[in-house]
Amino acid sequence: MTIAVTTPTGHVGSRVVRLLIQAGVRPRLLVRDPARLDPALRAAADVRRGDLTDASFVREATAGARSLFVVDPTPHTVDDPVRDSARFGEIVADAVRIEGIARVVFLSSVGAEKRHGVGHIDGLARIEECLDATDADVLHLRCGYFFTNLQLDLDGLAQGELATAAHPRAAMPWVDPRDIGDVVAARLLSESWHGRAVQGVHGPEDLSFARVAEILSDVLGRPIRLATVDDDTVRAGLRAAGLPEGAVEGIVGMTAGTRDLAPDPPRGPLTTTPTTLAGWAYAHLRPLLAG
Ligand SMILES: NC(=O)c1ccc[n+]([C@@H]2O[C@H](COP(=O)([O-])OP(=O)(O)OC[C@H]3O[C@@H](n4cnc5c(N)ncnc54)[C@H](OP(=O)(O)O)[C@@H]3O)[C@@H](O)[C@H]2O)c1
Repeated sequence: MTIAVTTPTGHVGSRVVRLLIQAGVRPRLLVRDPARLDPALRAAADVRRGDLTDASFVREATAGARSLFVVDPTPHTVDDPVRDSARFGEIVADAVRIEGIARVVFLSSVGAEKRHGVGHIDGLARIEECLDATDADVLHLRCGYFFTNLQLDLDGLAQGELATAAHPRAAMPWVDPRDIGDVVAARLLSESWHGRAVQGVHGPEDLSFARVAEILSDVLGRPIRLATVDDDTVRAGLRAAGLPEGAVEGIVGMTAGTRDLAPDPPRGPLTTTPTTLAGWAYAHLRPLLAG
């Protein structure tokens, strides 16, 4: 029973690979640069080197697989992120059809349930649709906002500022990607689910950015103040950084489109995962900001 894993060096994929190997499985890894894999894990896996935007690589590397973990590799910074994500959805769905892959777990996002108007998340909705059009058993994991996004603005946090264009007091799901990996591995190893399914992965509690700033202040032992910015300020910053217009709107749209977020499925025992933001920040953010 071969399980193929995309983005095995990513936050979620790396956890999935470790758990599959610990479960006694030899996973097949689709990776751009095998040197980026943990050497101990690399030796316990079947490594296929290539790029996920290359349709023939994806087909060849998934041939004979029974199950597949799919992550959209499209960066937010490309000219037309939704188009590129949709293209990736077609590449993967073709591989699923042609190679007869029976089971697929897809890393999607809260907001994808809206289908349109959520910036680059619209691209994840297109991938959900491509996979739903295959005959495979398909599970979409609609995940909350990753704790690891905080590592993208270490300079701001070092200066005591957490900037966002989100509504400061609107709570939404925040999640440790490692906990997502736990859910993915469990689903890949289980043969008990069938058909089409959607599951939320929401972390332990919904958090507003104001609450996140409070938690980080406690954990980091220094005040972190919340700076709210409007969409046009974000646009101006992204343009100044040289991003093309499609990328700018894809990024702004993800925040704008989730301001009134009502995740589908809603939070419940099945969507709630254990790691708290405080625990994660103590282990992963505090060392990066020490000194
Ligand atoms: N951030 C959030 O809040 C959030 C919320 C919901 C869903 N998501 C989804 O989560 C996904 C990101 O997951 P993550 O955080 O685990 O990933 P990540 O840590 O950002 O890593 C990206 C992965 O994609 C691989 N990759 C990038 N371009 C590739 C290409 N052309 N061919 C092959 N591999 C490629 C990278 O490989 P290298 O090692 O070669 O660079 C790396 O393994 C995205 O699809 C995003 O839409 C994110």
